[in-house]
Amino acid sequence: MGKRLTVIGTGYLGATHAAAMAELGFEVLGVDVDPKKIDSLSRGELPFHEPGLPELLLKHIDSGRLRFTTSIEEAGAFGDVHFIAVGTPQRAGEDAADMTYVDAAVSSLVNAITRDALIVGKSTVPVGTARRLKSLIDEFKARGIEIDLAWNPEFLREGFAVQDTLRPDRLVVGTDSPKAHAALREVYADAISRETPYIATDFETAELVKVAANAFLATKISFINAFAEVTETVGGDIRTLADAIGLDNRIGRRFLNAGVGFGGGCLPKDIRALQARVSELGLDRTMRFLSEIDEINLRRRDRVVYLAEELLGGLEGKRVAVLGTAFKPNSDDVRDSPALDVAARLFSGGAEVSVYDPKANANSAQRFPRLNYCSTLAEAVSGADVVLVLTEWQEFRDLHPQGIQSLVNNKQIVDGRNVLGKDEWESAGWTFRALGLRS
Ligand code: UGA
Repeated sequence: MGKRLTVIGTGYLGATHAAAMAELGFEVLGVDVDPKKIDSLSRGELPFHEPGLPELLLKHIDSGRLRFTTSIEEAGAFGDVHFIAVGTPQRAGEDAADMTYVDAAVSSLVNAITRDALIVGKSTVPVGTARRLKSLIDEFKARGIEIDLAWNPEFLREGFAVQDTLRPDRLVVGTDSPKAHAALREVYADAISRETPYIATDFETAELVKVAANAFLATKISFINAFAEVTETVGGDIRTLADAIGLDNRIGRRFLNAGVGFGGGCLPKDIRALQARVSELGLDRTMRFLSEIDEINLRRRDRVVYLAEELLGGLEGKRVAVLGTAFKPNSDDVRDSPALDVAARLFSGGAEVSVYDPKANANSAQRFPRLNYCSTLAEAVSGADVVLVLTEWQEFRDLHPQGIQSLVNNKQIVDGRNVLGKDEWESAGWTFRALGLRS
């Protein structure tokens, strides 16, 4: 019989991992402390937007391979391998990660495990966590039982979560237990058979690979955005600059799109947590460049607010249409979303803000109920004094002046994601602004 898996924490990462493991043929039990989440997942309803995941969820609820529960005791009795996929959000008012959920998940699980098992951490954690948890496990496990620990960070991107889980670029596993490697090679046999590199390493390296990857991606984005500040001043074309440096294979073109910057539940909090952890280790200067990365990123939001204000000659009573509030396309996630932040700031500055996002209106309204949420693009731009494109959904990439110019009050547009053609808009009589463009 194949191994039985549990996934503790059924948010973005956990729900995807659970469904993907069922797709690989395993019996999987998803566990969460939130009964509402468990109820909706058990009915096959996903509380967030992720292409392809609802189908996979329903398929395996039907196949009987995937179930959900709030009972950690049930999980302890059921699983051979337990994946920890709970969140590690930024601690309120601090940069460090909040480890409450990871610690609680592992302690309750250890108490519930009744036979030999493997615990696999997938959450993004400060380096040193796995070794700390290992001692906790050894101290509290029941007598006569072996519980191994491995750290196996996850690199999935929202919007591509299913494919990234089933067909990862690489598998990274940190552990001191050969048995843990054997078990995980069995779990990931499908990817390994397709020659996905399996990197066997220690706890610290595995933990650091995850945060190093995200810090590098954040750095790449802020790097190009810093050059956008330069081209805004001196002139030049940020897209051509990115294309040209990106053609050097050592640099690569991906993650060099200048715009309103990075957001979401990972990159911003991960670079802050990494700095906090490294300072805690006494290396105060080592990751200090990441605060510059963070600041460059946040300055992009100021720039969009400034451009809107400049075009409008002040915000008071002006009508602004914001297209896109999700932190990136193909997602309904608005955590630390640059687009939603800009919309809220324009509202606070006195503008009337109409918002349209193909998927994120509901989540945005929960955070900022006072914006005017519209169910179509046309409704949002009607009567607008300026249109801002802040998330590059395909629907907005496909926008042409002819499509909306009879609806707006003033033909002014700010391209916050560098996806529109300046010449096309200007020749249709629009005032066109973009990030990285001299005005
Ligand atoms: C990120 C990483 O890409 C994943 O590998 C990682 O597993 C995940 O965090 C995580 O730690 O869980 P994700 O947050 O889904 O994934 O989003 P990304 O696709 O990385 O985009 C992050 C932000 O950067 C978005 O706001 C996006 O608009 C922005 N971005 C991205 C740019 O501004 N320019 C670019 O060129 C690329």
